[in-house]
Amino acid sequence: MQETLNYISENKKRYLDELFELLKIASISADPAYKDEVLKCAEVCADHLRNAGADEVEVCKTKGYPVVYGEKMVGKDLPTVLVYGHYDVQPPDPLELWTKPPFEPYVEKTDLHPDGAIFARGAADDKGQFFMHIKAFEAMMKTNTLPCNVKFIIEGEEEVGSKSLSDFVNEYKEKLSCDCILISDTSLYSTEQPTVTTGLRGLSYVEVEVEGPNRDLHSGLYGGAVPNPIHVLSRMIAGLIDENGHITIDGFYDNVEEVSAEERALMNKLKDDQEAFKSSIGLSGVEGEKGFTTLERTSIRPTLDCNGIWGGYTGEGAKTVIPSKAFAKISMRLVPYQTPEEITEKFTKYFEKIAPANVKVKVNPHHGGMPYVLPSDTKEFNAAKKAMETAFGTEVLPFRSGGSIPITAMFEEVLGAKSVLMGFGLASDAIHSPNEHYGLYNFYKGIESIPLFFQNYAKG
Ligand code: BES
Ligand code: MN
Ligand code: MN
Repeated sequence: MQETLNYISENKKRYLDELFELLKIASISADPAYKDEVLKCAEVCADHLRNAGADEVEVCKTKGYPVVYGEKMVGKDLPTVLVYGHYDVQPPDPLELWTKPPFEPYVEKTDLHPDGAIFARGAADDKGQFFMHIKAFEAMMKTNTLPCNVKFIIEGEEEVGSKSLSDFVNEYKEKLSCDCILISDTSLYSTEQPTVTTGLRGLSYVEVEVEGPNRDLHSGLYGGAVPNPIHVLSRMIAGLIDENGHITIDGFYDNVEEVSAEERALMNKLKDDQEAFKSSIGLSGVEGEKGFTTLERTSIRPTLDCNGIWGGYTGEGAKTVIPSKAFAKISMRLVPYQTPEEITEKFTKYFEKIAPANVKVKVNPHHGGMPYVLPSDTKEFNAAKKAMETAFGTEVLPFRSGGSIPITAMFEEVLGAKSVLMGFGLASDAIHSPNEHYGLYNFYKGIESIPLFFQNYAKG
């Protein structure tokens, strides 16, 4: 192992330079204008896998963006780890809030990253993280220490729902057969308190529309006598959560998992610094579901949020108008054993029920995803915990995250294998936001933890 760690340490600088090149590619899956960049990124990932020593490397065509595949089989009787990551990134807007352009990476120190952090779109989500796996694999190959079989799948549509990957997984079940899946696409609780992520929330996402009058109306001639769709929609949305932070949708909590007292006690071992939490996001107070801590509210409890609301006149100056329609996008984060189908249906029924009789409402469902849990009494969890404890030199705790990676539940269903979420980002890394960054310390600790995981997992 020391040899592998030495190799990593000797090649640190080159690893970072190579990551910079990858970060310069604007692989924005949501925006068709960046199609060529996304395709180029897939090719570059394939080149990296090939150079690191993978066999059967292929940029696999799908109906959407390609899935990059590669493998190294070293023994029939050895376990197989499937490494998953995504090379697509979120759109960088609003551009004016970035200190430097999003696809021109640079390193700068921050309070939480005193060794420096790499600033660029995709630095933490997920290029900087899946790239650690390619580099750790290279180190194991170059030092002849790969202790088990490895397969890689790196997709290009994670940020837009992983549609092509789910078709790919169903079609190539045998090719992808494995004993476990290893993913770095989540965060640590903190650098001082490293964690293995043992849960992800699911997602149900809907767009709603309220229609009042059949055309925009003069607010002087009609105002005061007709339903204003913006007012109606605002009232409806406000009513979806009551004064105790409870979601009012009929049956919303029916299938919510009661997390055991034991797990709640373990999770509350994590130091919950409320002051740091508030000041990091510029708030003087928090709120949420009564009876739960901030940590619990953002992990083991389901939530509902309006992500955007629009309608009427929003241009320069004043236009006196009552709009015909108002719209909103609403997301719900789900926990075991809720399903996106169930929750979308319950939302739709409830939203139609609370609509006043004098407006029409429509609910259009978007993509969703299942929640995921990795029990902490598994071989997978323990191999990750031990690996990270060796790399960080401190106790590693389990931690459920509030984010979603819907493909994990699908991997379990189709491939029958558990996903280990060994992510090294921080919640404050501004993923999906301007000035996304990833700590250099986190990047290198990740690269060191991966060969240790392989070794622990192969030993069983
Ligand atoms: N890597 C994130 C998810 C994540 C980040 C989980 C940090 C836990 C900690 C992933 O790329 C993502 O953004 N997922 C989306 C859902 C997806 C269906 C677009 C999300 O969580 O909003
Ligand atoms: Mn991600
Ligand atoms: Mn993301």
